[in-house]
Amino acid sequence: MAEKPRVVFITGAGMSAESGLQTFRGAGGLWENHRIEEVASPEAWEMNRELVLRFYNERRRALANAVPNDGHRVITELQDEFDVRVITQNVDDLHERAGNVNVLHLHGELTKARSSADETLVVDIGYRDLCLGECASDGAPLRPHIVWFGESVPMMRLAADLVSTAHALVVVGTSLQVYPAASLLWEAPSHAIRFLIDPNPPEAPGFYVLSKGASEGLKEVAHLLRQQFFFR
Ligand code: OAD
Repeated sequence: MAEKPRVVFITGAGMSAESGLQTFRGAGGLWENHRIEEVASPEAWEMNRELVLRFYNERRRALANAVPNDGHRVITELQDEFDVRVITQNVDDLHERAGNVNVLHLHGELTKARSSADETLVVDIGYRDLCLGECASDGAPLRPHIVWFGESVPMMRLAADLVSTAHALVVVGTSLQVYPAASLLWEAPSHAIRFLIDPNPPEAPGFYVLSKGASEGLKEVAHLLRQQFFFR
């Protein structure tokens, strides 16, 4: 049997908005009430660990009470017909909980912590709070497993390689303001069909834009993908 067409999704905070999780930018966004450099940077971790831990503990508690939305489920359904790959900037686990199988987290994961001395020493913490004074097995303080501003993005090469092999690229719910993640769009091969779903879409030349929420937009894109690749 011929290989399945590869559909690569690049998702951002808007993907989880219908699950009740806050986006970062814009009205009501997380960065309205928190200064990035005070909670999401290596300097913040050095200056005020308690504040950093509290910020991510709040995010983890919100996640514990959230459930995947129809948009996540549409991606799961597409896995039967397509080789689906998800590259997410989100640190939540809603893609996985909806049954999305191939998920690459560019900016880390809320349900994990890691040694502040060794980034490869990662532990699962589930939805519990991370407390001041907790240490990894190497004796260094445990920090959230999040890629902070000013840190390198270890998964970037893998993500760029994936995008370069896409037959279709679907971008969902991201303002495309954060690099290097936003530069992934440039990696798509010229023949790939491109969709962008966002009720307030950023500039994205060459993309077919659906100015809609994630669930509605993804249902429509699923239909268009089936038409395009299987003539139905
Ligand atoms: P942003 O908050 O910057 O952008 C969220 C996007 O989602 C906006 O373009 C909204 O218009 C859109 N949106 C809102 N509701 C939506 C819905 N129901 N359906 C679809 N889209 C919707 O979030 P990101 O682009 O993900 O990094 O932010 C990128 C990174 O910046 C994050 O990973 C995070 C942040 O600082 C770190 O913390 C390291």
